[in-house]
Amino acid sequence: MDTKKIVRSTAVLSAVFIIIMAIGCAKEITGPGTTAGARYVGAEVCRLCHSTAYNDEMMTAHFNTMVDAPDDPFDFISIWEEDGSPEFCLRCHTTGWDESLDNGGADEPGRLKLMSGVKCEVCHGPGSEHVEGGGDVTKIEVRYESELCGSCHNGAHHPTYDEWEESDHAIALEDLLDSGHAGDHCLECHSADYYYDRTITVETAVYSIECVRCHDAHGSNEEHQLILPAEEMCASCHNAGGAQVGSTPHHTSLEMLVGYGAYEWAGEDYPNSPHKDLIEERCVRCHMYTEEYEDEENPAIAGHSFEPELYVCQACHAGATDFNINGSQTDIENLLAQLDAELEAGDEEDQWYAEALFNYYFVTNDGGSRGAHNYKYAKALLEDAIFYYEP
Ligand code: HEC
Ligand code: HEC
Ligand code: HEC
Ligand code: HEC
Ligand code: HEC
Ligand code: HEC
Ligand code: HEC
Ligand code: HEC
Ligand code: HEC
Repeated sequence: MDTKKIVRSTAVLSAVFIIIMAIGCAKEITGPGTTAGARYVGAEVCRLCHSTAYNDEMMTAHFNTMVDAPDDPFDFISIWEEDGSPEFCLRCHTTGWDESLDNGGADEPGRLKLMSGVKCEVCHGPGSEHVEGGGDVTKIEVRYESELCGSCHNGAHHPTYDEWEESDHAIALEDLLDSGHAGDHCLECHSADYYYDRTITVETAVYSIECVRCHDAHGSNEEHQLILPAEEMCASCHNAGGAQVGSTPHHTSLEMLVGYGAYEWAGEDYPNSPHKDLIEERCVRCHMYTEEYEDEENPAIAGHSFEPELYVCQACHAGATDFNINGSQTDIENLLAQLDAELEAGDEEDQWYAEALFNYYFVTNDGGSRGAHNYKYAKALLEDAIFYYEP
């Protein structure tokens, strides 16, 4: 919280007072949330006490979506004007657009300029009462749920929310709690509220891997307001965190792709498929395929189902008809079945057993890519585990 930046000088407060007078008296309006009855005041007012949030947001596409960019023929203003400036576009490109309420939103006479762009009160609700109360936190909302973002990021042009909602990320908290052995530290990868507020526990967590677990709502130094560079984002959770023989390696996708962290028998070779170096964008390249909107029959693909897409493979593996390229997944499945049979027959007390079991899980828990991530490494791990078995 940028408390340090909160200036309570009389000068600022009187400036705020003047602005509030200019907005006019708040009308009695009922609605949901803590901001019912409040009016929209505009980001310049928020700036007086929240300069850090303002300065970050000021750099985002949200903030600037209605700033005319004369050199860019594809900016909102150019396209909107070409279309005859239809009003319905403004619902998602402004702040507080709601014809059913008279509360100072962008739809009201004379308010469009001040309320242009996707600014503070889109996400925090109208702020007049919060401001009048000198920053009364009971009169402003902080929302983590994807539905907020989804109120605009949906539909055939940008089905980001619709895709996310179908993904397992949307049920990560539910599945964690259902597992019966959840601890607070599990929330790091299974919940968005915990990420921002470390007082959250398994009893109080509410949100799964929402938009804001990966995107910084106020903007960041990374592209697309990501909290980490895109090529590091997925691996920050999909990694086995240094698991060793004797424990079970979970979610090993990063280690499998890059080819390290499994049990490697001394003197043996552990080669890698070229994906490791060739695909610099890593996970995002295969798992976040996107396509522009063409028409209602061919809507956009926003890359937020997080499932791999065959088109991506075909760019390099001409003629691929499924992920089982050259029978690679079948090979890995066969090797897994062979090792499984040895483990069934093996002695749990043996050192081999612990090492082979570790590699068995290392391969099955990479999300089940069965070689798609790194065929050569997966194959070598399983072949050696099978080879070193002594009945
Ligand atoms: C796209 C949605 C969105 C917009 C636009 C937005 N916020 Fe936020 N804001 C959030 C979310 C989500 C959180 C909680 C997560 C976090 O702390 O980043 C938050 C947290 C905050 C907090 C409390 C934590 C902190 O960072 O200090 C303040 C204060 C705040 N926002 C002020 C602002 C102001 C002022 C603006 C406009 C300049 C703004 N926000 C614009 C979504 C938004
Ligand atoms: C007169 C100063 C002032 C103005 C103007 C102001 N705030 Fe605040 N705001 C505060 C103070 C003080 C806090 C409490 C900070 C704390 O708890 O450390 C706060 C807290 C917040 C929080 C966090 C709430 C929480 O539950 O943690 C958000 C979000 C927020 N403000 C958004 C806004 C937005 C949006 C605007 C513009 C509509 C705005 N503020 C205008 C002073 C102000
Ligand atoms: C349902 C909400 C919604 C409506 C209605 C809407 N937009 Fe958008 N628009 C968005 C979102 C969300 C994005 C960002 C998409 C992304 O990056 O995935 C966007 C992006 C854009 C962009 C791309 C900006 C850029 O610089 O890349 C343009 C241009 C645009 N919209 C124009 C329009 C026009 C013109 C209309 C009306 C015909 C319209 N929008 C109606 C939500 C909406
Ligand atoms: C009021 C509608 C609205 C809401 C709510 C909204 N957005 Fe957006 N968002 C847009 C529009 C419009 C754009 C496109 C702006 C442009 O390019 O001109 C956009 C663009 C973006 C971008 C692309 C930025 C880039 O640099 O590529 C991201 C990421 C994003 N939004 C995330 C979010 C998240 C996360 C939330 C929820 C916390 C959210 N949005 C809520 C309308 C909205
Ligand atoms: C698990 C992490 C994750 C979650 C959850 C997530 N995103 Fe993203 N998002 C990404 C990554 C990574 C990229 C960049 C993809 C790339 O570089 O091709 C991205 C890109 C975007 C873009 C830019 C798309 C473009 O082509 O310009 C928008 C807009 C966006 N996300 C909105 C959202 C919204 C809205 C939600 C919630 C419904 C959401 N994201 C949830 C990771 C995530
Ligand atoms: C905040 C941690 C986190 C981040 C970041 C993250 N994931 Fe996940 N992911 C999870 C968790 C937890 C699950 C399991 C959810 C469940 O099944 O309940 C999951 C599930 C998945 C699944 C479905 C797995 C299955 O077995 O069906 C895919 C695919 C996936 N993630 C891909 C990605 C990609 C691609 C990225 C980067 C854009 C990413 N994830 C970023 C934590 C994360
Ligand atoms: C070369 C493209 C490629 C790259 C790079 C890649 N994946 Fe995959 N991934 C796949 C394929 C193909 C599958 C298997 C899908 C199937 O058989 O249904 C898969 C499966 C998965 C699964 C299980 C998905 C499910 O629905 O069962 C997860 C989780 C996963 N990958 C995460 C990741 C992560 C995290 C990264 C980065 C560390 C990554 N992947 C990098 C192509 C890729
Ligand atoms: C940027 C290019 C590129 C992309 C994209 C790509 N691959 Fe590859 N892949 C390669 C190259 C190059 C090889 C090495 C081929 C060889 O050794 O014959 C390879 C090897 C493989 C192998 C090992 C095959 C063998 O017989 O050794 C599998 C399996 C594989 N890729 C699956 C996939 C899948 C599935 C996808 C899509 C999800 C994918 N690849 C996307 C370039 C790519
Ligand atoms: C380092 C990040 C991380 C931590 C910490 C974490 N998980 Fe996960 N979890 C994941 C990822 C990523 C997946 C998806 C694995 C995949 O499909 O490859 C997952 C999947 C799961 C699933 C499977 C959901 C399903 O039914 O398919 C359960 C259950 C689970 N985790 C429970 C836990 C528990 C319990 C803890 C704490 C002891 C925990 N996780 C800690 C990242 C994490």
